[in-house]
Amino acid sequence: MKVSIEINGTTVSEEVEDRTLLVHFVREQAGLTATNIGCDTTSCGACTVLLDGESVKSCTVLAAQADGHSVTTLEGLHGEDGDLHPVQRAFREEHGLQCGFCTPGMIMASVSLLDHNPKPTRQEVRAGLEGNLCRCTGYHNIVNAVMNASGQEVQR
Ligand code: FES
Ligand code: FES
Repeated sequence: MKVSIEINGTTVSEEVEDRTLLVHFVREQAGLTATNIGCDTTSCGACTVLLDGESVKSCTVLAAQADGHSVTTLEGLHGEDGDLHPVQRAFREEHGLQCGFCTPGMIMASVSLLDHNPKPTRQEVRAGLEGNLCRCTGYHNIVNAVMNASGQEVQR
C-alpha cells in the first residue's frame, strides 16, 4: 500500500507492506535513524515520536495508521537556525544521558510531557516518563533535565 506521512515538515510517500511499523517507516523509508528500536514490544520507549503532536511509541503504530498525519522525530526538533531545542539543551546541561540509546525517545516524551504540563513536579516528571526506560542514568539527571527545561529549580 502507498503511505504518505509528513515527517519533520517533509512529506514522505512510499509503497510499503501493510504490516510496516511506523518506526521502520521513519528509519528505513525516511532515513531518519535517531529514533531507536529497543524492544519492539511497547516496553522501552526508545522509539517515541510525536504523531500529530502527541507522543506515541512508533513500534506500536502501523505506518498505515499514520497515513496523512504528521510525525516529528528528534531530527525535527531543532530551530531553523539549527539551535538545540530547549529540552535537548537541558539534557546536555544536566548530563541526562550516558550511552544515549534511550535519549531520543526520552526527549520526545519530555517534549510532549511539557506540552501538557509546562511546570511539572519531579514526581509528575517521573510519572510522565514511566513508559521510557533507561538502563544507565538512574533517571535522576533525566528528571533534572526536564525540570531545567521547564525553567524550574533543579535538585542538586
Ligand atoms: S522499541 Fe518501541 S517501545 Fe521499545
Ligand atoms: S542513557 Fe543509556 S539507556 Fe539511557
